[in-house]
Amino acid sequence: MDEPVEAGQPFSLLGRSAELDDLDGLLAAAAAREGAVVLLEGEAGIGRTRLVEALGHGAAMLGVDLVLLRFPGPAAATIDGLLDAATDRPRAVVLDDVHLADDASLEVLHRYAHSGPIPATLLVLTERPVPYREAVQRMVVAWVRAGARNLELRPLAPSAAVELAEQLVGHRVGPLLRGVVSTAGGNPRLVTAVIRAALDAAALSEHDDGVVDIEGVGWQTALDAAARTHIGYLDPGVLALLSQAAVLGPSFVVPDLAALTNQPLTDCWRTLRHALAAGVVAARGDRLVFRHDLVRTALYAGLDERTRRSLHIRAASTLGEAGAPPHVVAAHLERAQGAGAL
Ligand SMILES: Nc1ncnc2c1ncn2[C@@H]1O[C@H](COP(=O)(O)OP(=O)(O)O)[C@@H](O)[C@H]1O
Ligand SMILES: [Mg+2]
Repeated sequence: MDEPVEAGQPFSLLGRSAELDDLDGLLAAAAAREGAVVLLEGEAGIGRTRLVEALGHGAAMLGVDLVLLRFPGPAAATIDGLLDAATDRPRAVVLDDVHLADDASLEVLHRYAHSGPIPATLLVLTERPVPYREAVQRMVVAWVRAGARNLELRPLAPSAAVELAEQLVGHRVGPLLRGVVSTAGGNPRLVTAVIRAALDAAALSEHDDGVVDIEGVGWQTALDAAARTHIGYLDPGVLALLSQAAVLGPSFVVPDLAALTNQPLTDCWRTLRHALAAGVVAARGDRLVFRHDLVRTALYAGLDERTRRSLHIRAASTLGEAGAPPHVVAAHLERAQGAGAL
């Protein structure tokens, strides 16, 4: 493979036309001297920064000045000066990663929320809900009360994720690589990490028809490392519990995990709430599902051999007692013997 991924290469924004339309509508409102506030939220790597960077085009077309600041960085006085200035020209003020803002800046933002949207100004605050910070949430709630709109960035559609992979590789991609890309759960940073790991490990080869696909399994370690880095910002207690949950499979029920880890259900749930808020797991009825199987397999692979075996033994009895079918129990016992991977 001869086309490495270059940082900062201008790949197109994929699968976000609805969100851009929404934001363009609000830019037009600012151009008409209305005020609006948007909270742009989503899991790490889902594309908040990428989306707000794409606002420049619409802003220029509508004659709206765009100021984009990223935390940590700007001082409280800068934010204050920016929002306070009477504005002749309509503007969009984008504050990226407010979850990383210093307390003084949060205080300033909180104060402005009490007066509501600023005329001729579109204020966009982007944030990630985890790690939880009370001062951030207080400020966010104040803006919600002031009428801020919520824009939650969802995973990319499977077709957009494959398109991103193809842009990064510079070729059409084959079924094996598509399969791995799908384990990124539509998270563009994880899709990028998959391709980077494959390229770095020279695990891709081009077939006669120009399609590029994976060859060999030598890149799994690099892939696991990339997935672990992706969730490295989570609390160690949350990561430890998720690693144990990974033994139960792609989805699990909370009482089973509580039994497996020998802790009260409420404690288990309290920890899992952070994983839910971070978007590492999602609720589906009574189950929790790993959002990116890539992350789950990396967590599983990160368990040391002895721990993994004993967890499988415990899982066999926990699930057996809970009424799981014999073949599920047997599969855990087999894995406890070291046979096969999950
Ligand atoms: N819609 C998209 N189309 C193409 N690439 C994207 C898209 N969204 C994000 N990316 C890429 O994925 C990576 C993570 O996006 P980023 O905006 O930094 O995420 P966040 O700010 O939410 O953590 C970046 O390399 C970015 O260029
Ligand atoms: Mg970002």
